[in-house]
Amino acid sequence: MKTDRRGFMLGAFTGIGAAGVLYAMKRTWDPLPTVQHAGVTTINLNEINENELMIYKWRGKPIFVLKKTPDIVAKQSTNDLARDIIVGEAHYMLCIGLCTHLGCIPAYRESKHIFLCACHGAEYDSSAINTKAPAPLPMLIPPFKIKENNLVIGDEGLEYTKMKERGLLGLKKLDPYT
Ligand code: FES
Repeated sequence: MKTDRRGFMLGAFTGIGAAGVLYAMKRTWDPLPTVQHAGVTTINLNEINENELMIYKWRGKPIFVLKKTPDIVAKQSTNDLARDIIVGEAHYMLCIGLCTHLGCIPAYRESKHIFLCACHGAEYDSSAINTKAPAPLPMLIPPFKIKENNLVIGDEGLEYTKMKERGLLGLKKLDPYT
């Protein structure tokens, strides 16, 4: 009788131990939450102040997001406006923050509302359209999707597709003054 009870308890402990091992193994095999979301960066637009450049990271690249002031918007060209992401009343500039000359990271000059690349002097307007050589093209708009008050970088949404169809992403030259 005693032997049966000991055997039962040993079996129960062995069972619990095996379940623990299996659970630990499953946790090891399951992808980490960050890995599951690799390739996508979600930006909460509520945390962005006007005329303050926010820099995020997506697939190892810097992502610039600038919330424009009504003043900036009022002075915009057609191409500038077409590259804006509009959520509610707010206009946002989104781009990969790499100079299209040789890939340096331009700085934002808040007082002038321009981007300046210190490497060789290129400039961009507040929509990241190149305005001064040697930058040959606007800074590139990455794939994005608007989801409520978030920008999901890495997903292609309707607004991105429309910009792509209109040739506004930065793969071709745009005139900042038209
Ligand atoms: S890398 Fe920006 S101007 Fe040359």
